[in-house]
Amino acid sequence: MTAVKRTRSTRKPSSSKAAAPRTARLRVDLGERSYPIVIGHDTLDDAGPAIAKATGAKRVGLVSVTPVSRRYGARLAKSLRAAGLEVVRVDVPDGDTSKNLGQLGKLFDAFLAGGLDRSSAVVALGGGVTGDLAGFAAASYLRGIPFVQVPTTVLAMVDSSIGGKTGVNLEQGKNLVGAFYQPRLVWIDTKLLESLPMRERAAGMAEIVKAGAIWDAKLFKRLERDIEAALALDPAVLIPILRRACAIKAEVVSQDEREAGVRTYLNFGHTLGHAIEKHLKYREMLHGEAVAIGMVFAARRSEELGFAPEGTRDRLEALLERAGLPVELPSFPRKAYLSGLEVDKKKTDRRIRFVVLHCIGEAGTVPLTPAEVFPG
Ligand SMILES: NC(=O)c1ccc[n+]([C@@H]2O[C@H](COP(=O)([O-])OP(=O)(O)OC[C@H]3O[C@@H](n4cnc5c(N)ncnc54)[C@H](O)[C@@H]3O)[C@@H](O)[C@H]2O)c1
Ligand SMILES: [Zn+2]
Repeated sequence: MTAVKRTRSTRKPSSSKAAAPRTARLRVDLGERSYPIVIGHDTLDDAGPAIAKATGAKRVGLVSVTPVSRRYGARLAKSLRAAGLEVVRVDVPDGDTSKNLGQLGKLFDAFLAGGLDRSSAVVALGGGVTGDLAGFAAASYLRGIPFVQVPTTVLAMVDSSIGGKTGVNLEQGKNLVGAFYQPRLVWIDTKLLESLPMRERAAGMAEIVKAGAIWDAKLFKRLERDIEAALALDPAVLIPILRRACAIKAEVVSQDEREAGVRTYLNFGHTLGHAIEKHLKYREMLHGEAVAIGMVFAARRSEELGFAPEGTRDRLEALLERAGLPVELPSFPRKAYLSGLEVDKKKTDRRIRFVVLHCIGEAGTVPLTPAEVFPG
């Protein structure tokens, strides 16, 4: 049985034949916690009835961050109200620093003040920060009420909204408190990406390149053909690419929900990427940018260690560069890299399960010490 089933792929019925944008649907198969991902273009106004149906809720807490809420919050609220739902809107300040216990507490206060009860649901409208924070709030408020993701960044569409990881940062580190909590629905409208800065789009694209590199040579080839059109948000190009990237994450997660085996492959490029992000104190570089550098590095190590054929790194590097992503290793002192690798939470014992490529489309892991990952 396949983990992910494509249940429908249609043309929008109301549009003219010529320019009809495609919509795609897939199902994340997790037994009774299975849920659909619906991908379309200009579909925000249709989200309300789908959310009402998926949650059975009478009232929703609509959580967003100011820049996103200002653009799209009213439209989503209107669609939800038209579907018969009461809407309690809660905006949190923008930025990763909002993923904290203080903001979580504020969400609970707002949910209580707005009358959210066990027949209510939480909807996250935003990027990964919004999804992680609102998702954890949904997981823990009244011991858990239904949750829906309306992701508005490329990263959130293909990565953070799928897989059920929710949570907040602590002073001591990122994502230290959280829960696995699956949404009832992920509603993706690619038109919302028009306002997303190109740099953010490219950073999200790094995770799609990763999905192709570790799992699907065909997706990788498609990106090699069309990455510019995807970044320019051509729906005919972008929707199938997002669909495939979502399906890969969903498939990997369905096989390995709690991160024991293949889910580790999703860390491709992340071991070194995290070390870079940490050294820069999570400033200057976006996550996807650090991952792009980390992937090129990991592909080079894969070649050096004899896992991948020569040329693997070149292909990866060329594609990432076309997306405008950085690929050169920053010239930090070696000890900065080594100490960044030491604290990688994915290491077991003193070794890191370093993700290598066997070729484009196929990954594996190898236990390495930090000094072996980053030889002098
Ligand atoms: N749960 C998971 O499995 C998982 C996986 C990867 C990353 N994450 C988390 O995701 C977060 C990063 O997510 P992100 O990259 O989406 O960051 P983000 O949510 O901070 O969004 C990036 C920026 O884009 C803005 N923005 C979002 N959508 C927009 C739109 N449509 N138009 C204009 N501006 C828009 C936001 O306001 C923000 O300034 C991190 O906290 C990370 O830990 C979680
Ligand atoms: Zn990532």
